[in-house]
Amino acid sequence: MYTSVILFIMCLIVLSSSRAEMVNLKVINELPSNGYSNLQKLDSKAEEKLQLRMKPANFTGPGHLKDLVGRCFKHRDLKYEYVFCPFQNLTQEDIQTYYEPYKGVLGVWADWIIEDGKFKMMNMIEGSPCGNGMHRSTKITLQCGPSSELVSVSEPDKCRYLAKFETPDVCGENALVVYPRLPAELRQRWDDAEQDLHTGLLTKKGYHKELERIFLAASYYLSPDMKSSLVHKAATESSKTCKVELEEARLRITELEEELRLKEEIILELGDGKRE
Ligand SMILES: *[C@@H]1O[C@H](CO)[C@@H](O)[C@H](O)[C@H]1NC(C)=O
Ligand SMILES: *[C@@H]1O[C@H](CO)[C@@H](O)[C@H](O)[C@H]1NC(C)=O
Repeated sequence: MYTSVILFIMCLIVLSSSRAEMVNLKVINELPSNGYSNLQKLDSKAEEKLQLRMKPANFTGPGHLKDLVGRCFKHRDLKYEYVFCPFQNLTQEDIQTYYEPYKGVLGVWADWIIEDGKFKMMNMIEGSPCGNGMHRSTKITLQCGPSSELVSVSEPDKCRYLAKFETPDVCGENALVVYPRLPAELRQRWDDAEQDLHTGLLTKKGYHKELERIFLAASYYLSPDMKSSLVHKAATESSKTCKVELEEARLRITELEEELRLKEEIILELGDGKRE
């Protein structure tokens, strides 16, 4: 209930900042009870689906992992149920609390964490707020296993989660090796960097910087610009949803005002009838 109210107020703020004319708050306060329940239905519908702060990035990485796209995997521990949708999102829901259980996003698919030339972890960022302007985020390690399964989620640091995902898709020795998956031109740049490191033309630091640029060029890393454009897209979409909901609420208000006017007329007429 508390979150629904906040959501509704947020909608009002979004709308008031984008439009000069503003919903008459007084009218909302005075809505008869049947109208109010209707409004509640509208905004609890919005609450059911968690809003993502960022649109997930495109799929990148080893092509054979693409069959994980569109699938979701659940894991339960004593307190929470987690749902992991690879290359999409990871969410958490409190299963211990019956009244208004916590539901949050632990991260949205952003990019890879590459270590020692291998796709090491999936990097999920921009989850639900966590105080101090921070947002939850999760690193998901991929491990070879007999079936695809989210095996564990932990929170070693506040709002910084670690998860393990097992899948037969990463069992081959080369399943997660980056180099052979790069386009020829980027492989060449890597070769050159390697050479320059050996001849002393590049420092270790310079070499790692160049690798970072290569992974960015291959879209294995998300650039800051790309990231802000994905955050911006999500915000635009959610404000659109807000507007649609507010428009529906306004229509309902107009209907109710009309109903009220008709009823007032009837009352007036009845009153007149009595006096005669
Ligand atoms: C997470 O991704 C799945 C799969 O694409 C999608 O069905 C679900 O709506 C997403 N969750 C949220 C909170 O957007
Ligand atoms: C995702 O792919 C689409 C279509 O190929 C492209 O237009 C878009 O720029 C890509 N987005 C990111 C974040 O890479």
